[in-house]
Amino acid sequence: MRVCYLLGYPVGHSMSGVMHNAAFQELGLDYRYELKSVPPEELGALVASELRGTDFAGASVTIPHKLAIIEHLDWVDPSALRIGAVNTIVNEDGQLKGYNTDGTGALRGITEAYGDVEEARVIMVGAGGAARAVGYHLSTAVRELTIANRTVERAEELAASLAANPECRATVRSIPLERDALRAAIEEADILVNGTPLGMHPKTGDTPVQREMLHPGLLVFDLVYNPIKTRLLREAEEAGAAILPGVNMLVYQGATAFRMWTGVDPPVETMKAAVVEALGGE
Ligand SMILES: NC(=O)c1ccc[n+]([C@@H]2O[C@H](COP(=O)([O-])OP(=O)(O)OC[C@H]3O[C@@H](n4cnc5c(N)ncnc54)[C@H](OP(=O)(O)O)[C@@H]3O)[C@@H](O)[C@H]2O)c1
Repeated sequence: MRVCYLLGYPVGHSMSGVMHNAAFQELGLDYRYELKSVPPEELGALVASELRGTDFAGASVTIPHKLAIIEHLDWVDPSALRIGAVNTIVNEDGQLKGYNTDGTGALRGITEAYGDVEEARVIMVGAGGAARAVGYHLSTAVRELTIANRTVERAEELAASLAANPECRATVRSIPLERDALRAAIEEADILVNGTPLGMHPKTGDTPVQREMLHPGLLVFDLVYNPIKTRLLREAEEAGAAILPGVNMLVYQGATAFRMWTGVDPPVETMKAAVVEALGGE
């Protein structure tokens, strides 16, 4: 049997085990997925002792190890290096390779929900770890990307680093997370992305954007996946906007990892159904 891990600290609320084990079972693969809570000071020793064995297929990496894992790997994908975070490890004959599948997962969901994004103007709230990955891939695909963040210096730094990427095709700018600036940016936007934890369980009454800023021309994508339909998404629907729940990104980033570990096409619908059920339904 081959094993895949989730490396995090803590890992208790993760949906990854449910998602990947449902997929292994559906396809009858001799794999299992385990959640491993690894204190930061033990990460290096775990990599050296367990992750290079032939029974280890790969891992998902989550908070707080996404950056720290990089120095323990043999090779890291250039886009993951630019993002500054690895969320997927693959064991290729004892060589540990690092990737970031968060941003590609997000872009796949956006493209399915929106269509061709080449001309899209995007406003993204947040400049943390997940927003960095999503912002990186959006900046290579859309026309305009505006980043709004509570700590405006982080938005500025992210915008500058995305614009410096030779593969960036968007005009990238940053704004403070202030009512007037946000309102104006959303008014002109085709896609609104929430990359903050605002609205996440248990503080489900929070939202990053005032209801009156939402309009029917928007696709609203919330990275938060618990609850599946956040306050932001409910209010977006009421305003006539299209919505994209974060669960799609979660499943697509996991599906990419699954294919890398097993070489087999992932049963995406099974993975999504397992996560939706674990989250208590749509
Ligand atoms: N759907 C998926 O597959 C997926 C994948 C990864 C993450 N996520 C979700 O994405 C969310 C963000 O995760 P992360 O790892 O990027 O977190 P993070 O690195 O801690 O970043 C948090 C971001 O949210 C902002 N923020 C936090 N609290 C805020 C508040 N009260 N008001 C305004 N802004 C606030 C922070 O602003 P400052 O810079 O000012 O602190 C920062 O930009 C989480 O809900 C996570 O579950 C979803």
